[in-house]
Amino acid sequence: MDGASALTCAPILILLGPPGAGKGTQARMLQERFGLVQLSTGDLLRAAVAAGTEAGRAAEQVMKAGGLVSDEIVLAVLTERLAQDDCARGVVLDGFPRTTAQAEALDAMLAAGGQRISAVISLDVDAARMVQRVAGRFTCGGCGEGYHDDFKPTRTPGICDACGSEEMTRRTDDTARTAMARLDAYAAETAPLIDYYDRSGTLSRVDAMGAIDRIAADIARLVNGA
Ligand code: AP5
Repeated sequence: MDGASALTCAPILILLGPPGAGKGTQARMLQERFGLVQLSTGDLLRAAVAAGTEAGRAAEQVMKAGGLVSDEIVLAVLTERLAQDDCARGVVLDGFPRTTAQAEALDAMLAAGGQRISAVISLDVDAARMVQRVAGRFTCGGCGEGYHDDFKPTRTPGICDACGSEEMTRRTDDTARTAMARLDAYAAETAPLIDYYDRSGTLSRVDAMGAIDRIAADIARLVNGA
């Protein structure tokens, strides 16, 4: 089976992986292919920062330094977003959970609603090569399509392949120095979740060092089997 028809009840997928592993890239492809809603806590927090909300003001400096925003703030923004109607068709969580406390809170939230995680997919990468991926990243300000200076350039320099916009943005935390701090935070706080989900029998692993389309095909096979 392929595409949305393979998904009979609202799936809840989690993509795990360090900064630059391709969570956002693959989540957008899953959104397109399976009609899932991509829920990136990084995007939700960046929106809160841009809007100047209380959560955004509290998160801003932590994000600039490459640390993890408090579980309380992250859970509040995620819970609010999950309550929106479109999430009923299934979600792919990109960048959440990132701590054991967040994973436990998610389990409790889903259990209360009679739901469970469909699959957790660990994007296995060589962490030492992630700084290059992060530091070369840019995004279309028009449609959100992600690119990379070396690995995924636009076909015409400065013009988005998807929507034609010329507005390209780079994240303020995508410097080599901050990327290293983010990798340290991942190793200390998030990597233990691989064992957490392995123990619950929901974990699958994908070699995420190859071509983006090959990785997407591997993930789609797992989703179809979930
Ligand atoms: P967030 O926005 O989640 O960033 P991240 O986890 O550091 O992940 P990235 O977005 O950097 O990488 P990605 O895996 O999505 O890779 P991408 O697909 O873009 O979080 C930012 C901050 O918010 C955190 O540091 C923290 O402060 C806070 N935060 C967020 N969630 C939180 C939470 N739950 N708890 C606490 N704090 C939280 O790919 C990267 C580049 O590589 C792209 O240019 C892409 O084109 C390219 N690429 C992708 N795949 C490949 C490939 N296979 N080969 C070559 N290039 C590739």
